[in-house]
Amino acid sequence: MYLWQGVGRYYPVMTEEQRIKELRQRLNYCNYRYYIENDPVVSDFEFDTMLRELQDLEAAHPELADPNSPTVRVGSDVTNEFRSVQHAFPMLSLSNTYSLDELHEWIDRVQKEIGESEFVCELKFDGTAISLTYRHGALLRAVTRGDGTRGDDVTENVRTIRTVPLTLTGEDYPDFFEIRGEVLMPYASFDRLNAEREANMEPPFANPRNAAAGTLKQQSSQVVARRGLDCTLYQLAGDNLPYDSHWGSLEAARRWGFKISDKMAICHNTEQIDAYINYWDTARKALPFPTDGVVIKVNRFSDRRALGFTAKAPKWAVAYKFKAEQALTRLLKVTYQVGRTGAITPVANLEPVLLAGTVVKRATLHNADQIAALDLREGDMVYVEKGGEIIPKITGVDLAQRPADSRPLEYITECPECHSPLVRYEGEAKHYCPNQSHCRPQILGRIIHFIRRKAMNIDGLGEETVELLFENGLVGCIADLYDLKAEQLAVLPRLGEKSAENIINSIRHSTEVPFHRVLFALGIRFVGETTAKYLAAHFRSLDAVMAASREELIEAEEVGDKIADSILDYFADEQNRAIIERLRAAGLQFEARQQTPASEALRGLSIVISGTFRDHSRDELKAMIEAHGGKNLAAVSANTSYLLAGDKIGPAKLQKAQKLNIKIISEEEFYRMIADNMVGGTASDTPASGQTQHTDTAEAADENTPAQPQQGTLF
Ligand code: IVH
Repeated sequence: MYLWQGVGRYYPVMTEEQRIKELRQRLNYCNYRYYIENDPVVSDFEFDTMLRELQDLEAAHPELADPNSPTVRVGSDVTNEFRSVQHAFPMLSLSNTYSLDELHEWIDRVQKEIGESEFVCELKFDGTAISLTYRHGALLRAVTRGDGTRGDDVTENVRTIRTVPLTLTGEDYPDFFEIRGEVLMPYASFDRLNAEREANMEPPFANPRNAAAGTLKQQSSQVVARRGLDCTLYQLAGDNLPYDSHWGSLEAARRWGFKISDKMAICHNTEQIDAYINYWDTARKALPFPTDGVVIKVNRFSDRRALGFTAKAPKWAVAYKFKAEQALTRLLKVTYQVGRTGAITPVANLEPVLLAGTVVKRATLHNADQIAALDLREGDMVYVEKGGEIIPKITGVDLAQRPADSRPLEYITECPECHSPLVRYEGEAKHYCPNQSHCRPQILGRIIHFIRRKAMNIDGLGEETVELLFENGLVGCIADLYDLKAEQLAVLPRLGEKSAENIINSIRHSTEVPFHRVLFALGIRFVGETTAKYLAAHFRSLDAVMAASREELIEAEEVGDKIADSILDYFADEQNRAIIERLRAAGLQFEARQQTPASEALRGLSIVISGTFRDHSRDELKAMIEAHGGKNLAAVSANTSYLLAGDKIGPAKLQKAQKLNIKIISEEEFYRMIADNMVGGTASDTPASGQTQHTDTAEAADENTPAQPQQGTLF
């Protein structure tokens, strides 16, 4: 029986089933107001409290599971299989043009055929196309474009996209329909993702489009949920829809809860269409997501029917694509960078040139094959482009301006830093310097990775200090850090006694860092933060990881052939094993700690948790509090001892804690508090589990294809 409703109000008694239903409705509505209307109706804290209550209730009532519950937004760790599904209506593409003249010819043709016409101009979103099917107002299926006739069923992943409504609002939506649009990765999500990938030694995505498409095909919807995708819809499809225009149909879809662009405009002639294009060619640069053109569509469905289709595309729509900004400049020199894995990246050094508002001096060349394909030579005049990519690239050479005495570029055969002969592994486009232990950028890169906040968090040290220590012969590998003495540091330039002491202290503290972060810090290729967590949860000790065979490694979640091979290579290396033994002797955590390392460290303390945390989910923190004798409370009150605050802490909770003078502690302070108060035992740090949220409700969507029109026109 439930008395507690919403947050802060009492309502009449209701059953748990009713409460689940109500929470789902409220959370869906809150999501809609937050993500679609940008006008939140509850605080983060209230939202989180309701979500947590719903998660608990759903866990207690598996019989009431619903694939469209708002709890599925966090994704599940069930491995996705992407069934191939036939589209009810083919997903056509658009005719493209880069030429305003061609666009004007198209407008003339349309006007000649149907007389006075109405056009809708829209942005052309640069993501990946998706088709959503709704039945009885609930999301049934999400399918990629595929070959236009059949696509992949990516429903579980799409359910995690906050702007995709799981259930619709209003009453006038068709009982069964498809709606199509674009899954996008906003620049902010893209930048964050690539920074993470680089830190994990994974190749970054070239542009947000590839990142969005790659993310939709992720095996785990939990990973998708974290990547911050967005979805804008631009086309309603179904049989006998009761609308007579595109504009009208999208207005209706907006009322049902879909995210429909607010940048659309109705235009009546060439001048208005040109003005829209001109405006957005510049204004799009300030948008938070990528666009690559404008789509011009005939508005009235009766006119569309009159115009019809070609084999591939409708005659009633056309895409005008913006030109990628280009500049011509001289290639002065090609230089080579060595990454921390030894990968060589050629870099084009250019005569500075203004491109898309910034001065460009360098461009990436990726690898030797690309240089050969462009027949690039030093001294050439080259075209530099900034398309969807962040880093400018060279797209061509102006051969007419090639100096008569130019010679083909010879790719280096030796490492520019340590002069070791370069190698090229089978199937890899890049060259590598194999001299891991004596090549400066590789050594420094590994140490800098090791000390990062998300790894060993040795915050007394920075990149410059690491270089200083290296130049002075004090560190040559990560294990050397643990032999450092304050006296050795204090005498170095720019370091005094105080900072020397800080460094030594933070190195000492790093021996408390939990095992999964140690595993990540080692810098094993492709073993990023998440993989390290999965490995730690599965094997529970470094010795077990080291002893695992290829087959055993692959049994751990998210570990495939590539990662398994990289782990095996790493531990097969004798020098790496020697470093591991020195780290073991230094006291680093090589084991995941007990699931419930019961202690009395938090006896008598009431702790409220709010926000998101680096190492543990809120559920895990809750379990830790209880395992150490403390109490976890949902709301801040005068009886609260501490507010454990993560990122994005709910503002209401924070305010209340401040008002009541309740001490606010960080994740680190919390761990330290347990470690300091534990008698005799080792410091606490519980489940080295990779799962950050737990939802078991994400059952596969209804597999049975409902009775649906196999043929039909779009409108
Ligand atoms: S309408 C039959 N509208 O461009 C026409 N497409 O080359 C269906 N796209 O596959 C598409 N923004 O992925 C339409 N506002 C927009 C669009 C858009 C991006 C993409 C879409 C489509 C491709 C066509």
